[in-house]
Amino acid sequence: MKWIIDTDPGIDDAAAIITAIRSGLDVIAITTVHGNTPLKFTTRNALLLTELLDVSTPVYAGTERPLLQRPLDAAQVHGSDGFGDANLPAPRRQPEPVHAVDRIIEAAHQHSGQLSILAIGPLTNVALAIAKDRSITAKVSRLVIMGGTSHAQGNTSIVGEFNVLADPEAAAIVFESGIPITLVPWETTTKAVIPAAAFAAIRSSSSRLAQTFLTISEPLCETTRRFLGMEGIVLCDLVAAGVAIDPAMVTEQVHTYVGVETAGTLARGLTAVDYARHSGRQPNATVCLDVDRDKLTALFVQAVSA
Ligand code: BDR
Ligand code: CA
Repeated sequence: MKWIIDTDPGIDDAAAIITAIRSGLDVIAITTVHGNTPLKFTTRNALLLTELLDVSTPVYAGTERPLLQRPLDAAQVHGSDGFGDANLPAPRRQPEPVHAVDRIIEAAHQHSGQLSILAIGPLTNVALAIAKDRSITAKVSRLVIMGGTSHAQGNTSIVGEFNVLADPEAAAIVFESGIPITLVPWETTTKAVIPAAAFAAIRSSSSRLAQTFLTISEPLCETTRRFLGMEGIVLCDLVAAGVAIDPAMVTEQVHTYVGVETAGTLARGLTAVDYARHSGRQPNATVCLDVDRDKLTALFVQAVSA
């Protein structure tokens, strides 16, 4: 299986990309999107990561804004540059001269039935690719999405999770597209907090990648402590990467219909999970409700400290 990682790095996106690539996932492209921080930073950060990983994975810049609403960012969590305002040097590499949306479409045709997408940012690029060429919905094998909530307990609004709330219309297009979805919602990722003790191994590594990750992740440790009262770090996108790498990591899941609420005020951006099968709709998603936290921690620590 070939993979595209569609992403808005982002500290937890960095953990996901590092772990996906170091664990041998066949990543043919990284496509960037607005989200945690503006596109110029998410693209810069993706390029920086490929340099730290010493890989030539091409990076394609994508969409700067959501489809309809004004951009939302998560600077209070990831810093204004997405990497904890750590003043990292500019990357030497440049993004490819092709738009992310076009690269997604091209890859879906090139690797029909053999392409999956790990989507760990707002879903604007994926929605636009579907809108531009609907035939890709029969060619993309699976979308592994970090986004939404399983039980309406949001992290950005009362019921809304950041990636869905940052572009609900895009999310609605993607969820109604017919491409099979594996959904890793916010509440599940908080069960998979990486314990503070795991950081000892990362600290003892002398690699530039490990040291850079420790520097940029400091604010997220602080956020985990302040908002969730947990010691350690919640790395939402890493959980989705873990599920993409090893689907057996999921210990509890439900296969059902998930709809995205785009109207309303309180519930805009809600992912409505049809547990009791009220909708009469065909299942479109497998919602991961729990994962093997120890397995995920081991995978991540090995990837980042190597
Ligand atoms: C998601 O939102 C972003 O802030 C993170 O990178 C992650 O993709 C968590 O809700
Ligand atoms: Ca992200």
